[in-house]
Amino acid sequence: MDFSKHASSFGAAADLYDRIRPRYPLEALRWALGEAPRRIVDLGAGTGILTRQLRELGHDVIAVEPDDEMRRQIDGDARAGSATAIPVEAESLDAVTAGQAYHWFAGEPAHTEIARVLKPGGWFIPIWNVRDESVAWVAELSDVFDGHRARTAIDERTLTPDQFGPLFGTAELQLFRWSTPHTVDSLVDLIKSRSYYLVSDADARAALEARVRELAGRIQGDQEHFELPYVTYAYRSSKL
Ligand SMILES: C[S@@+](CC[C@H](N)C(=O)[O-])C[C@H]1O[C@@H](n2cnc3c(N)ncnc32)[C@H](O)[C@@H]1O
Repeated sequence: MDFSKHASSFGAAADLYDRIRPRYPLEALRWALGEAPRRIVDLGAGTGILTRQLRELGHDVIAVEPDDEMRRQIDGDARAGSATAIPVEAESLDAVTAGQAYHWFAGEPAHTEIARVLKPGGWFIPIWNVRDESVAWVAELSDVFDGHRARTAIDERTLTPDQFGPLFGTAELQLFRWSTPHTVDSLVDLIKSRSYYLVSDADARAALEARVRELAGRIQGDQEHFELPYVTYAYRSSKL
C-alpha cells in the first residue's frame, strides 16, 4: 500500500470522521493519566476526538496534527506539526498521547522527538480502539475494513514492551472492553471514514459499501440497532 497516501487521506472526510469515529473509554484515559491535571500534547489529533475528551477531564492539551482539514475542526490550541516535528519546547510536557495514530509514525525519528518534548518521567500514551474480532461477525467485518492491509508495519495488539526505543521504559498495557450502538447506515459511514475507502476509486468504494451493507443488514435483522464491540488498547511508557 502507498503508506503516505493512506496517512494523509483523512482530511477529505473530516466532518464525517469527527461524527462517526468512536470516542475513548474514560476509564482508559484515567488509567493512563491519573486524576491530576497534566500538560499534554495530543499527537495526530485529527479532528480532536481524544483532545476534547482529555480537556473535559481537566487536562491542558495542545493538539498537534499535520492535516489542515482535520486540524480545522479542533477548537482551542491546535498546531500544525507531526511526530517528527512537535511544535513545543523541550521537556515541557507531562504526557504525549496518540489516539489511533502511532501506527502512522512508529519508530525513529518520532521516538526521539517525543522524548525531547517530555519531562523526565513523562508518559508516552498510544491508544487504540480495536474492533473485538473474537466475535465472529466482527472478524468478518474486519476482512472488509482491513482486508487490504498486510499487518507488517505495526499491529497495535501485539506491541512489545520495549517498542518505544531506548529513551523509554518498559511499556505497560491495559485493555478496556466496551461497545457502541450502530445501524446499517452508521456502519457504512464508519468505513467511509477509513483510509482504505478514502484512497479507493469509485468502483472499489461501491463494492466496499455493498459488503458492509450486506453484513450489517444480516446482524441488525429486525432490530433498531446492534452493538459493535471494541477492545481499547492503552499503552503507557515513561521517558527515562
Ligand atoms: C486515524 S486518525 C486519528 C485522529 C484522532 N487522534 C482520533 O483519535 O480520532 C490518524 C491521524 O494521524 C495523523 N498523522 C498521520 N501521519 C502523522 C505523523 N507522521 N505525525 C502526526 N500525525 C500523523 C493523520 O493526519 C490523522 O489525523
